[in-house]
Amino acid sequence: MQVTIRRATSDDARAVSDLYLRARHSAASARTIPPPAHEDDEISNWIEQVVIPTRECWVAERSSGAVVGVLLLGAEWIDQLYVDPELTRAGIGTELMTAAKRERPEGLRLWTFVSNQGAQRFYLRHGFREIERTDGSDNEERAPAIQYAWLPAGPVSTT
Ligand SMILES: CC(C)(COP(=O)(O)OP(=O)(O)OC[C@H]1O[C@@H](n2cnc3c(N)ncnc32)[C@H](O)[C@@H]1OP(=O)(O)O)[C@@H](O)C(=O)NCCC(=O)NCCS
Repeated sequence: MQVTIRRATSDDARAVSDLYLRARHSAASARTIPPPAHEDDEISNWIEQVVIPTRECWVAERSSGAVVGVLLLGAEWIDQLYVDPELTRAGIGTELMTAAKRERPEGLRLWTFVSNQGAQRFYLRHGFREIERTDGSDNEERAPAIQYAWLPAGPVSTT
């Protein structure tokens, strides 16, 4: 699917928030991701007042103008990555991942839930390797999680 990857602006706050909540409440997520630890209006406020104005947020946009994917990048972390639940497995996550690697060429880390096996396959396919597992006592959802890391390939030794 053809999408444009671009930085989110204040005009995108509602679309980003709607997409994030739809993705978190989708039937697929209900089977694989624990429910959010915050109410929907708290999440919308956080996206509008914190994420969009102060954080590095990228969106995938269709030619229609619809926002169909969201990527939140920290210094060396993928903090959030969500694709429209109606449009998963159509290459949108890969486009966002390509942008994340371009923006963080030194490497990336992320957490995913142990229950989210689809995301794990996605990250392994994109060269991430498992670093550690936790029992979830240190995350808001209290759900077992895996940390993955991606490091760019170094130069090939010829000796
Ligand atoms: C995980 C996610 C970001 C991947 O984005 P995407 O646009 O669906 O992925 P792409 O189409 O670029 O890549 C698809 C590949 O990823 C893997 N994959 C992604 N989701 C998968 C799933 N549910 N089950 C199995 N494999 C999956 C597969 O390798 C797949 O390739 P295939 O379809 O040829 O088997 C997206 O599916 C999503 O938003 N999922 C729900 C929210 C989520 O889990 N976010 C990550 C939180 S850590």
